[in-house]
Amino acid sequence: MAKSRSNFVCQSCGAVTNRWQGKCESCGDWNSIVEEGLSSGIGAQAARSARKGRVFALEGLDGENKSAPRIVSGIEELDRVTGGGFVPGSVILIGGEPGIGKSTLLIQACATLAEKKHRVVYISGEEAVAQVRLRAERLGLAKAPVELAAETSVEDIVTTLSQGRPPALVVIDSIQTMWSETVDSTPGTVTQVRGAAQALIRYAKTSGASVILVGHVTKDGQIAGPRVVEHMVDAVVSFEGDGGHHFRILRAVKNRFGPTDEIGVFEMTGGGLREVTNPSALFLAGRDGTAAGAAVFAGMEGTRPVLVEIQALVAPTALGTPRRAVVGWEPSRLAMVIAVLEAHAGLRLGQHDVYLNVAGGLRINEPAADLAAAAALVSSLTGAILPHNAVYFGEIALSGAIRPVAHAAARLKESAKLGFQGAIAPASGLDGQEQSAMIVRPCAHIGELVAEIAAQGVQKSSKKRTSAEPEPFPV
Ligand code: TYD
Ligand code: MG
Repeated sequence: MAKSRSNFVCQSCGAVTNRWQGKCESCGDWNSIVEEGLSSGIGAQAARSARKGRVFALEGLDGENKSAPRIVSGIEELDRVTGGGFVPGSVILIGGEPGIGKSTLLIQACATLAEKKHRVVYISGEEAVAQVRLRAERLGLAKAPVELAAETSVEDIVTTLSQGRPPALVVIDSIQTMWSETVDSTPGTVTQVRGAAQALIRYAKTSGASVILVGHVTKDGQIAGPRVVEHMVDAVVSFEGDGGHHFRILRAVKNRFGPTDEIGVFEMTGGGLREVTNPSALFLAGRDGTAAGAAVFAGMEGTRPVLVEIQALVAPTALGTPRRAVVGWEPSRLAMVIAVLEAHAGLRLGQHDVYLNVAGGLRINEPAADLAAAAALVSSLTGAILPHNAVYFGEIALSGAIRPVAHAAARLKESAKLGFQGAIAPASGLDGQEQSAMIVRPCAHIGELVAEIAAQGVQKSSKKRTSAEPEPFPV
């Protein structure tokens, strides 16, 4: 019996079934399954020609490598995220919401590299050549010798690129607009995206060109199309930011050739993306330091310390179930900090709404932010203003103990550089901070923190301090 020549592929997760279903059993999405022909799909060619395999040589791990040097873009924030420049023959997928600035960043990177005499090709599947030119002109980059094209056929692109000197960098904006003739699905479907990505990855590996694929992001922040593309490429980088703020964060999600915890910070200006070399100053700009409920967290992003203000609002609730809302941090960590404050410090938050916000739109993943979040919560609840020249960091254990965190010295150094004088930090794990200009107040248990803030609140009201005159860090 002839085998069925058709596959049903979920457009959300890439799962394959052999019949149509209303709901994908793999990811639970409704109406996401589409019939795609197998007769001309990926792997179909291989299935048809049952040729005998060719013998290839196997090699050892310690062989000589003729690796070309990394291509350094000169945009420091970008190079930090890629791990020190683009690796020849590698493929990077860059994802981000529409309008966040992916095309702007890439045309800037292309122009910088082209100025350094590298051959750089920018293929746009979304915009016409004139539109790309117009943007470059606005950015003052029109003179850069970048080679442009508006194309969507992967076969045509690969053939064109194979002519002449192999390019150092090829940008494909975006992978969702590309289509391959060998795949007979509509452009934009999972199979097409996967097929096009595969062809471009093959091109990168054989030619040694570094390829950047731009990927669209769905509403919930995933790079649209199959996750398989993320598995196929060497690095996945996401470009984040929100409409209300001017700065953008480039973050490595996966990197076969470098670290994944580094971020690059940019500011979107009228003249394109500008590098932000001192993100702490940017995130702390506009801080007034005279309101209750704000604590400065000395955080780390990769190898770089980043200071940011954590704001909390604790207010009596009007609802049966109090609200807990958090922006820029994990809701589960907030729930944990609240639970520890209730269980080990005697706070009662059951009748209060709790809002927590990381100022400036930064997203924090570190457990070290626990102590700063707790301080902001207690400050808002008691009305006591925290010392304006102190920073907080430390992880809170479920027992209420404050656990040490990594890179304490780097956090203290950055805080001192920005004019802070004191730190409330875990009692242990602070070796090597003697030479730092900061006064460190060790805090071993969450109870100590609450007692101290409460005492400050009492002191404040007895001294009749005005709110415009915040408590300095006691020396
Ligand atoms: P773009 O790079 O087209 O975004 P993406 O490719 O991620 O969809 O960026 C578009 C936005 O950036 C647009 O809303 C305007 C803004 N922008 C500036 O603010 N300044 C500039 O110099 C440029 C080129 C764009
Ligand atoms: Mg774009």
